[in-house]
Amino acid sequence: MKIAIGSDHAGFDLKETLKQHLTERGFEVQDFGTHDKTSCHYPAIAEKVARSVAAGENERGILVCGTGIGMSMAANKIHGIRAAAVSDCFTAKATRMHNDANVLCLGERTVGPGLAAMIADLFLDTGFEGGRHQTRVDMIMALEK
Ligand code: RB5
Repeated sequence: MKIAIGSDHAGFDLKETLKQHLTERGFEVQDFGTHDKTSCHYPAIAEKVARSVAAGENERGILVCGTGIGMSMAANKIHGIRAAAVSDCFTAKATRMHNDANVLCLGERTVGPGLAAMIADLFLDTGFEGGRHQTRVDMIMALEK
């Protein structure tokens, strides 16, 4: 699976940790920056990752900022994106099974690296259940029109 990853300065260390973890797991990871801890604007990175996922260049996206919240707000503005800000294992699994989330947003200031790796693994390894959830996801996507 091909994964787009990105962060702002506040998520840089966790982004680097996750990039290494996912590469070691055999995923193809495309890094959209940022590339150091110089202060930058998270919506610009969210847009790059989200557009790449929406275009089908990468199957999933992972975005890291201080909280995961700003990244999720920005990514969800791009058509085709269902971004979820997640900080626990239950919702990491649930947002795949029920919401078919295609972008995971994490906060370096709220989640430690071990938990973040576990959340990313669950997000990438869990399938969408479809059925009644497909109807609801279709309704979400219809809101874009
Ligand atoms: C940067 O200070 C911080 O605001 C940003 O990383 C993020 O947490 C926004 O939601």
